[in-house]
This record gives sequence, C-alpha cells and structure tokens, in this order.
Amino acid sequence: GEEMLIPTPCFVSYQAEAILAGGAAVEIPSTMEKNFELDPRALEAAITPQSKAILLGFPNNPTGAVASRETLLEVARIAEEHDLVVVSDEIYDRLVYGGHKHVCFPSLPGAKQRTLLLGGFSKDYAMTGWRIGYACGPAEIIKGLVRAHQYTVMSAPTTAQAAAIAALKEGEPYVEQMVAEYDRRRRLIVSGLNEIGLPTFEPKGAFYAFPKVSVTGLDDETFATRLLDEEHVAIVPGNAFGAGGEGFCRCSYATSYAKLETALEKIRRYVNRL
Ligand SMILES: Cc1ncc(COP(=O)(O)O)c(C=O)c1O
Repeated sequence: GEEMLIPTPCFVSYQAEAILAGGAAVEIPSTMEKNFELDPRALEAAITPQSKAILLGFPNNPTGAVASRETLLEVARIAEEHDLVVVSDEIYDRLVYGGHKHVCFPSLPGAKQRTLLLGGFSKDYAMTGWRIGYACGPAEIIKGLVRAHQYTVMSAPTTAQAAAIAALKEGEPYVEQMVAEYDRRRRLIVSGLNEIGLPTFEPKGAFYAFPKVSVTGLDDETFATRLLDEEHVAIVPGNAFGAGGEGFCRCSYATSYAKLETALEKIRRYVNRL
C-alpha cells in the first residue's frame, strides 16, 4: 500500500492511523545524541515510489523536541520535490519554552497547498477529554476527511464547541500563566532526573521529559513496570512511541509541582535500589 513517512519517537496513534487507512508506516528514528531532531537526509533516503505523505509531530510527544525552521524548510522542499502531502500535528504549538519558537509548517513558503494542519484544545487550553480539535487543509483533502468523519465521529460535542470559543476569546492570559508554570516544572524534572543519573534531553516544547533509563541495566518496560509496582509512579515505556524510543521512558509534567517533587523522590529511591 501507500506509505506514510513518520519521524519517531512519536505519538502512539500515528503508525496505527496509517495502517488503519490501508497504508504502511515507515519510521524515521531520531536519537538523543542529536537532540531528537528530525534528520531531513534520513527522511529523503526513506522515500520510495509508494511514499504518499509525511507525518510531522512537533513540538513532539514524547521527546519534547521542537523542529527548527531550517529543518522544516528542508522538509517542505522534500515534500514538493517528491509530491508528498504533509500532515502536521501541531497540538502543542503554544507550549514552547526557553526562547524556542514553534514554526507552523503551512506558514512556510509553498507549504500550505500540500499540508493538512492538525490542532486541538487538549494541550494549549488544558481541555483533554473535551474531545475537540480541528484540521485545516486543501479542499480536496478536507472533502475526503469529512467523508470518513461524518460516519464515525459525526461532530465535536456542542458543550466543547462553546468551551473552545470561550477559550479562544478569553483564554490567552491563562495560556501564558500555564506556559510559565510548565517551564518551571520542566526545569525541576529535567534537573531532577539528570541528578538521579538518568540522562535526560532538555525538552523545548510539549510537557514531557524522556530520560534514558537503559543506563540502569533495565529495559524501558521493566523499568516502568517495576516503578509502578514498587513506588506507584506511572511513566510510559519509550518503545510505545516507535523506533528510537526503546531504552527511554516518557514522564509527563502535566501535574502539580508538589507531585513532581514527590515522584522524583520516589524515582531516586527506586534507582538507588537497583
Ligand atoms: C501529539 C498528539 N496529537 C494528538 C493528541 C490527541 O489529543 P486529543 O485526542 O485530546 O485531541 C495527543 C494527545 O496526547 C498528542 O500527544
């Protein structure tokens, strides 16, 4: 079938969505040594006559990587040269820290006509569970999307639509407060995990830290399962996020500062016991 090129580690649904649509997922792994950045040369090298689309997910779940303008310009060039559609999931677009900038992919020259932009209210407005998001793109892609959407999802809940309008009209000061608070938690968790001895890349966006747990001698699944059983701290094994995720675990900092302090204490105790 047709192939979707997917930089990984990435949100768990991407590969499954490609398969569900009758296609195949081709993973382009990134590494901590290279700041989990997408390598455009690796992307281009993976293109075959079956390639149909590229799925970008930046700011990234689970690594917190943010794609630079230069990288995205290269992706735009590759997409144009090989006539590929780009699906850009920018649901964490407002959650970037430390002076890093999020670049909206369809805002790049020539990119708009081949891009399907995905967004939602779950992250920027802390409305997870409200089930409201959006897609913007060329009319013929949206037409195909609506055909499937109408008979599966039907519509976003009316209550969530009203809440989303209120968020857009009045939410801005709260988003700014939230970003400042996430940044504080980000610094706590990254320095905490590194001090414990779990090498952790400094995330530039989203709300996850991605420590390398394989340095303890345990694989990511064993590390996460035992941490849950022994200390009741829930983190996600990195192998769930595709190639390049193995040996890491995803720690969400979308919880209170105090809970993160407690979790770090528990992780320290656990690692010291290993
Ligand atoms: C990268 C990414 N895209 C999309 C979603 C879906 O969010 P929702 O279903 O809440 O709109 C998530 C949620 O975790 C995500 O991390």
